[in-house]
Amino acid sequence: MKTILTYGTFDLLHVGHVRLLERAKALGDHLVVGLSTDEFNEIKHKSSFLPYDQRKEILEAIKYVDKVIPETCWEQKVSDVKEHGVDIFVIGEDWAGEFDFLREHCEVVYLTRTKDISTSSLKGRLG
Ligand code: CTP
Repeated sequence: MKTILTYGTFDLLHVGHVRLLERAKALGDHLVVGLSTDEFNEIKHKSSFLPYDQRKEILEAIKYVDKVIPETCWEQKVSDVKEHGVDIFVIGEDWAGEFDFLREHCEVVYLTRTKDISTSSLKGRLG
């Protein structure tokens, strides 16, 4: 069984997110999503429209997602990989190269982003 791990805020879930999750799951059998907590978003200078509990409930309803864990800091990735027996770490290409340090623990894959959609652009359009 292959376990896949990805991280993100997944606020105002959109097709870019769903396609990323679909392609991540297709690389293995069990998809774990590290979901940024509201406190961690503050550290990242990001504020989500929906609170953590709602973002988590929505992600858990997606058929590609098997487990949602909290992402509370930058440093937890190596211990998450070990704790969950992760084979492949996956994230969008906007992070290309940033997580290459995980290669000594698992495979690292950067996926292309879906064009022309992001939570920021949706928020902008909503005004
Ligand atoms: N993602 C994607 N295609 C998009 C938007 C996001 O593949 N059009 C991926 C990101 O690369 C990341 C995951 O979805 O791996 C979660 O991204 P997140 O930052 O939560 O979403 P964004 O829509 O990019 O949010 P923001 O605009 O706030 O950066």
